[in-house]
Amino acid sequence: MGIIATGKLIKIRDITIEDVPQFVSWWNNGELMADVGFKKGLGVTEDKLLKDFSKEISDPNPYRESRRYVVLDIKDERPIGELAYGQLDLAQKKCGIGIKICELSYQGKGYGQDTLITFMNYLYNHFGLQKIEIDTLADNLRALSLYKKIGFKQTKIERDYWTDPEGISHDLIFMELYKKDWKY
Ligand SMILES: CC(C)(COP(=O)(O)OP(=O)(O)OC[C@H]1O[C@@H](n2cnc3c(N)ncnc32)[C@H](O)[C@@H]1OP(=O)(O)O)[C@@H](O)C(=O)NCCC(=O)NCCS
Repeated sequence: MGIIATGKLIKIRDITIEDVPQFVSWWNNGELMADVGFKKGLGVTEDKLLKDFSKEISDPNPYRESRRYVVLDIKDERPIGELAYGQLDLAQKKCGIGIKICELSYQGKGYGQDTLITFMNYLYNHFGLQKIEIDTLADNLRALSLYKKIGFKQTKIERDYWTDPEGISHDLIFMELYKKDWKY
């Protein structure tokens, strides 16, 4: 149900309201969220996420500005991560994306790369995009090397862009990848 794309290792499906407890557990996991700057997790509540997810799921607009998805292991359809696009701009034919392989035991095994390639193919084709943008904390070397490997080019770096809850400031790297340079 709700599968939008299938890769070699994963499937991507729309979120459902039943995914909320899983997202709460992922987003509150400091070990996972440390890579995106939240060493103690986000501290979200089920109530808050239920409201956000209900609002998103009940929005009938197929071209809405942002949308979240769940990544499933192709073998058993277990949820292993999340994806989102945002800032969809159909006039300029571009959007931004975000990815997390949330089950720690699945990281570093090719799932991130397959997920990104599958999602980007879907977005380029489905929305007729010319460009996809992504950003990452400069200290997230794993994400950076994956993005470079599949062809993203750095467009700028913003020094001290964001201060994390521990008071440490981080640089943010912005990247883009044009459909004309897409090799997958
Ligand atoms: C970043 C992330 C998406 C990468 O996905 P993954 O499944 O762990 O990575 P993959 O196994 O697909 O590896 C693909 C490439 O990523 C890079 N990579 C993976 N693990 C790495 C590591 N420990 N150090 C440096 N680069 C690494 C390599 O370029 C690798 O290619 P290679 O295997 O040919 O060397 C995933 O680790 C993740 O979601 N991390 C937590 C949240 C996060 O950081 N999200 C990104 C926010 S911007």
